[in-house]
Amino acid sequence: MSRIPSAGVPIGFRDIAAALAARDTGHLRAELARVLDVSAAGLASSGCAAFYVMLKALSERSDRTEVLIPAYSTPVLLLPIRKAGLRLVVADTSLETFNMDMQHAYELVNDNTLVVLPVHLFGIPCDLAGARRAADRTGAVLVEDAASAFGATIGGRMAGTLADAGFYSFHRGKQVSSFTGGAWVTNDESLAADFAREEDKLRKPSAGERAVMFAKIVALALAVRPWFYSIFHSFLAGFKDTKPHDDFLSFAYTAVQAGAVGSLLNRLELIVTERNKRAERAREILEDTEAITLPKILPGTRPAYNHCPLMMPDTETRSRALAAALNAGVECTILNERTVQRAYDLKPDEYGGGPCPRADEFASRVLLIPCHPLIPMARVEQTAEIVRDTAAGG
Ligand SMILES: Cc1ncc(COP(=O)(O)O)c(C=O)c1O
Repeated sequence: MSRIPSAGVPIGFRDIAAALAARDTGHLRAELARVLDVSAAGLASSGCAAFYVMLKALSERSDRTEVLIPAYSTPVLLLPIRKAGLRLVVADTSLETFNMDMQHAYELVNDNTLVVLPVHLFGIPCDLAGARRAADRTGAVLVEDAASAFGATIGGRMAGTLADAGFYSFHRGKQVSSFTGGAWVTNDESLAADFAREEDKLRKPSAGERAVMFAKIVALALAVRPWFYSIFHSFLAGFKDTKPHDDFLSFAYTAVQAGAVGSLLNRLELIVTERNKRAERAREILEDTEAITLPKILPGTRPAYNHCPLMMPDTETRSRALAAALNAGVECTILNERTVQRAYDLKPDEYGGGPCPRADEFASRVLLIPCHPLIPMARVEQTAEIVRDTAAGG
């Protein structure tokens, strides 16, 4: 029985060849602008670096200092906020949508809110209209975190492109990946000019670093194949992120990475369709189980599932389901065990927003079933059945 990793991007020979052939990042910038239908797109070494570029530029245009994000998202978001000299404010989670509680966000926005950052977590579009209302309360800038939602749509337009600005991640587990990487986008010409100026300040990687990056893309192409993963998973486990980072990758995006992502973008629709088919099948298997909560998909939106998320009845049952799935050879995950403020052990005076009880509850119950294109449908079904039966007390 092959072992299935929790994340997988179908990088093949043609993507590696494109990485080798790429001479600059200009082609990908133009391609992103075309695919996403935005007027400007920029690149950086990670989603966090793209977010940092935007925050730094925005902070220079304003005296405001607060950045409002969902407490349960990804803890590393704290790092670019801090690096840009800004203050974290956290909003609670909606247990209905699994995304930011927009009413709580609305209440937290004030005259010092520089940015409101709704996150399309797990590739599921959040209530962007609610986020817009919150930001508009005092004229804060609305930035979408579409790091794990490349290919999701809201009203037929790409998630990440509907606010004042947005960003994506090309990290290993995302829909399209170059091992690491990120992109910022905007339709606002004046913001684009400021973001581009900040992006220009990023350190340019050396030839040696670029060669290592190419090797990492080749390694990623191999590591996500079930046959390879089955043999080497113990070794590969050493490369997984297990504790909160102290810093994020912050340098200029490389041409080899741009080549790989540009090539993967040609198959974006296929990748998203395959992901959604698997996640929707898992949801069908789980939807009638009372002990399991599935996120509501908002009308007019199309997710680009990064995983199929669900809430188990409690932490103990979740642990049993994780173990049972693993026993059947499939790695389910929980993304982050804690909210951003708990992951970094922040004192109450180090962030705003106060306690977020629903985000804590969510963190203690969330479970993610993989839905990447490299997991066969039969294994998705088997995993969903295991999770369902464990939740139902079987
Ligand atoms: C929702 C979300 N935001 C931001 C990030 C940060 O992206 P990166 O890891 O490329 O810095 C991630 C990555 O995991 C993410 O999932």
